[in-house]
Amino acid sequence: MEEVWDRQTLLAAYEVMRRLRLGRFAGVLSAGKEARVYRAIGRDGREYAVKIYLTVTAEFRKSIQKYLLGDPRFENVDTSNTKKLFFAWARKEFRNLKRMYEAGVRVPRPILVHQNIVVMEFLGRDGLRAPTLHEIRHEIDPELAEQLAREAIDQYTRIYCCARLVHADYSEYNLVYLDGQLYVIDVAQAVSLEHPNAGDFLRHDVENIYRFFAKQLGVELPEPEELLERVRACQTKCPEKRREEQGGREQQYQAS
Ligand SMILES: Nc1ncnc2c1ncn2[C@@H]1O[C@H](COP(=O)(O)OP(=O)(O)OP(=O)(O)O)[C@@H](O)[C@H]1O
Ligand SMILES: [Mg+2]
Repeated sequence: MEEVWDRQTLLAAYEVMRRLRLGRFAGVLSAGKEARVYRAIGRDGREYAVKIYLTVTAEFRKSIQKYLLGDPRFENVDTSNTKKLFFAWARKEFRNLKRMYEAGVRVPRPILVHQNIVVMEFLGRDGLRAPTLHEIRHEIDPELAEQLAREAIDQYTRIYCCARLVHADYSEYNLVYLDGQLYVIDVAQAVSLEHPNAGDFLRHDVENIYRFFAKQLGVELPEPEELLERVRACQTKCPEKRREEQGGREQQYQAS
């Protein structure tokens, strides 16, 4: 196991392992600036992605200011306590994931949040994580590019219209490709539509879609302004009932 884990994280990881009956951690999927993502395997053989927030960078502090405090769901977080910030950030990621999942957005299924640890469905095959669109950008042919552009816009529209959130970091780095379909990941920074900067984040996300799919992959797309209008028009069918309201499902999340 990684030596960077402090004692509290280690204890939190044991608690997660106990609750999910995890057998072992099986490799690092990604070591980002703030978080590490691990693959873990349950005693029943099921795979999980475990994201652990470990390091406070200057950027992380900025993100807290920018994406956490403006969100009415997280107004009362004590920002002077670093541990509490991590916990709030992990909880924010979990809640965003849950809200998107229930709104029919293709995101990894949220499974559990505990302190600075978020557990979700593992996206991958044969122990290998699914690649990001950035990683496969040179192998995407025009037909696939068009399909993925359509899906990226469709998933985004669902996030906005059905989950009532703005992703705020929507790009080829946070979209992954698995079994011929696109999945959205990395949702900690997503904000609710009431956030004072939601409009700016929305515009930026749409510009990112345009930059990657139109400029880089050559897909014919309407200009960003027009794309933005299409997203805002919400011509998409949202799930009739939020999945959590159908009863019974809530227990699966074991949120704490
Ligand atoms: N559910 C998952 N299943 C498989 N792989 C995942 C999953 N979640 C994240 N990953 C992998 O871990 C990487 C980092 O995850 P994520 O983008 O959520 O974290 P991050 O802290 O933003 O990291 P970065 O700074 O690298 O963007 C992803 O690019 C992806 O390769
Ligand atoms: Mg990311």
